[in-house]
Amino acid sequence: MKVVLSIKPEFANKIFDGSKKFEFRKSIFKNKEVQSIIVYASSPVQKVIGEFEIGKIYHQDLETLWNTTKDYSGISKEYFDKYFVNKEKGFAIQVKKMKKYILGFTITLAFFAFKRAHSDLLPIPEGWTTPVYDFSKNPLSKAKIEIGRALFHDPILSADNTISCVSCHSQFTAFAHTDHRLSHGIHDKIGTRNAPSLMNLAWQNVFMWDGAIHHLDVQSLAPISHPDEMGASIEHIVKKLQKLPHYQTAFEKAYGDSLVTGERVLKSLSQFMLTFVSANSKYDKVKRGETTFTPQEQNGYVLFQKNCNSCHQEPLFTTHKFENNGLPIDTILNDWGRMKVTQKASDAMKFKIPTLRNIEFSYPYMHDGRFRKINDVLNHYIKGIENSPTLSPKLKTPTILTSNDKVDLTAFLLTLTDKDFLFNRDYMYPRDFFK
Ligand code: HEC
Ligand code: HEC
Repeated sequence: MKVVLSIKPEFANKIFDGSKKFEFRKSIFKNKEVQSIIVYASSPVQKVIGEFEIGKIYHQDLETLWNTTKDYSGISKEYFDKYFVNKEKGFAIQVKKMKKYILGFTITLAFFAFKRAHSDLLPIPEGWTTPVYDFSKNPLSKAKIEIGRALFHDPILSADNTISCVSCHSQFTAFAHTDHRLSHGIHDKIGTRNAPSLMNLAWQNVFMWDGAIHHLDVQSLAPISHPDEMGASIEHIVKKLQKLPHYQTAFEKAYGDSLVTGERVLKSLSQFMLTFVSANSKYDKVKRGETTFTPQEQNGYVLFQKNCNSCHQEPLFTTHKFENNGLPIDTILNDWGRMKVTQKASDAMKFKIPTLRNIEFSYPYMHDGRFRKINDVLNHYIKGIENSPTLSPKLKTPTILTSNDKVDLTAFLLTLTDKDFLFNRDYMYPRDFFK
């Protein structure tokens, strides 16, 4: 029999975005013998892309694909070129029967070497969901990302031109802040929280340890105007930027005219931060079948799944939810976390679950940077949990880890280090811009 698959917009984007593999889950084909599938894209056009036979490998260049696939239901060649294929790299589809599950089949469609339809600039890693950031309101462009990159590194964003975003979010520590527990801002004022690492922000829709902010585009306003961080105002920054020829030229290139506005500044900063995608750690390579864990890492992974994954969920290593993970309150800082935002006692001591990607470099840990070592964190989960009415039910039963387990779990956590991210040249200080 023939199974006709209609692919939803978010899946269609995924297929046409260059993520290497796309998996249809077993349940779709429950007990059915599948010979071929027809792939429809409902976005950006509601059309049939083609029909593909199981077991056959399709590896075609654009021209051949266009000429041999039967039904395009009126898609013009121009549309096809624009949305479905990356011309330079060509196109390949592999449809194969993978494994027989009790439920049915898993079919893997692998689409190689071409990139996301709406943006070449943000490839979606294999197996990840569609980003939550609404790119239609701020479509990525190279020129805008470059402005964001310059702004992120430029102390002009602070009142006295001394502090930039990088002062607290340094690339080599996964855009966290490692030398102090709490962040240091303008006039060496000490903040009240630890600067979190920044990555995979396109998949995140709550920001700050307590979730006080709901949109990346407004996030930057907080540090800019915070008296202890950058102590400036967006209006003041816009005035300063407007006078600088290199920014005028860059805004003209990116936005069509040289006008610097607050909105453009904030959106450009978002654009740059949205490119912070960390998905090439050893863990990711293992998941893609490119390498394997050592027995120690593998054991650590099992322990992780048992004890930690319910909150630090793969593949982002966070659910972005708020939980109380049993930290006793610091009586000097008196930071009650989420309760500050919602005013509800039931949210006391709940903080946004941070990602564990690149955790090797993003110390110190927790909202107040109270722990310097991974070992301190593990000891907290083993014997430091403070019971309270808001303690997460997931932590009510004690976490039991032997000293060998701790070593193995740490070995696993270190597989989340992504050197390609930490040393990605595209994030570094844009020397040429400031020349
Ligand atoms: C003085 C240090 C400091 C500076 C400068 C700073 N930040 Fe931050 N940043 C922090 C701290 C601390 C937090 C967490 C604050 C909180 O939870 O209340 C944070 C949070 C964030 C977050 C939210 C991350 C998350 O996962 O919730 C983003 C995004 C961010 N900063 C971007 C920026 C940008 C862009 C700039 C420059 C315009 C900047 N920061 C400047 C210290 C700083
Ligand atoms: C109930 C949910 C939950 C479980 C289970 C959990 N965590 Fe956490 N974890 C959190 C929350 C919430 C935070 C942030 C708390 C804060 O800063 O106040 C956190 C913070 C961390 C941090 C610090 C990250 C940073 O950037 O500061 C590490 C490391 C960590 N957890 C590791 C683990 C490990 C390893 C396990 C399993 C042994 C685990 N967690 C289990 C919720 C959880």
